[in-house]
Amino acid sequence: MTDRYAIIGNPVAHSKSPEIHAAFARETRQDLSYERMLAPLDNFRQTVNAWCSSGAAGANITLPFKLEAFEFATERTARAHRGGAVNTLKFDSGKIIGDNTDGVGLCRDIVDNLGFAIAGKRVLLLGAGGAAHGVAGALLDEGPALLAITNRTLRKAEAIVEHLVGNDTAHNFRVLSLAALPASRFDLIINATSASLSDSLPLVPASSFAEGCLAYDMMYGMAQTPFLMLAANSGARTADGLGMLVEQAAESFMLWRGVRPSTAPVLTMLRQAQAGGL
Ligand code: ATR
Repeated sequence: MTDRYAIIGNPVAHSKSPEIHAAFARETRQDLSYERMLAPLDNFRQTVNAWCSSGAAGANITLPFKLEAFEFATERTARAHRGGAVNTLKFDSGKIIGDNTDGVGLCRDIVDNLGFAIAGKRVLLLGAGGAAHGVAGALLDEGPALLAITNRTLRKAEAIVEHLVGNDTAHNFRVLSLAALPASRFDLIINATSASLSDSLPLVPASSFAEGCLAYDMMYGMAQTPFLMLAANSGARTADGLGMLVEQAAESFMLWRGVRPSTAPVLTMLRQAQAGGL
């Protein structure tokens, strides 16, 4: 029997996950199918329940359902707890295991694909929504000299720091107000806000990009975002989130199938399709 998986979200039509997982399955010779599934905004639980009850093997969960997926899981990995959200569900003999592969996906793309070691660097995380929360723990695991987080609404950034390191004020994970940004420079700046969706700039000054800085926008599939344009004009190296997408998918695949697929050929395929406007 072919094992069935799906990406559940709203919207979901744009998702590249089916082609990524199809490529992984071909390469690793795994017998599986993977489809897109649109869940009504007010009825995620019924959709995922029906999918699970139909004998499916698992699902990826995308916006805006990652918190509801966290609640739906009957068991959660440490990464899911730290990220406060679930993007991968594995249905396993009555258990519903929830995992979060976003953080490890981001770090693999930065460290392995882009060849940028996070250890010992000064890192700035822009935004404090679900996307930022999902990756902060994995960034800390890489051992940066400093992980600063800033957000329009500072209270949300404080909540993420509290969730991950509690009241340990000696920790290298700190909130930085937008007003304090001009006084600091960073080696790696990650845009985890949704500002790029509205073509607007998260509030980062050009002076924040240190020499040799890598600017990473977790968005993908868009023309150069205002954040990446500012970064490039400030002399930074730039990257979009396509590599993160492929790496988080590979980690989900590993959880489901126990085999790690090669990501480089799939990333090349998607980049070529992007360049060709496909
Ligand atoms: P996601 O799950 O994608 O993270 P979210 O939880 O709605 O989505 O969070 C969106 C993030 O982008 C928030 O940090 C938001 O800032 P606020 O918490 O102050 O709302 C940030 N954001 C969205 N639009 C922005 C903009 N134009 N400039 C700066 N930050 C923006």
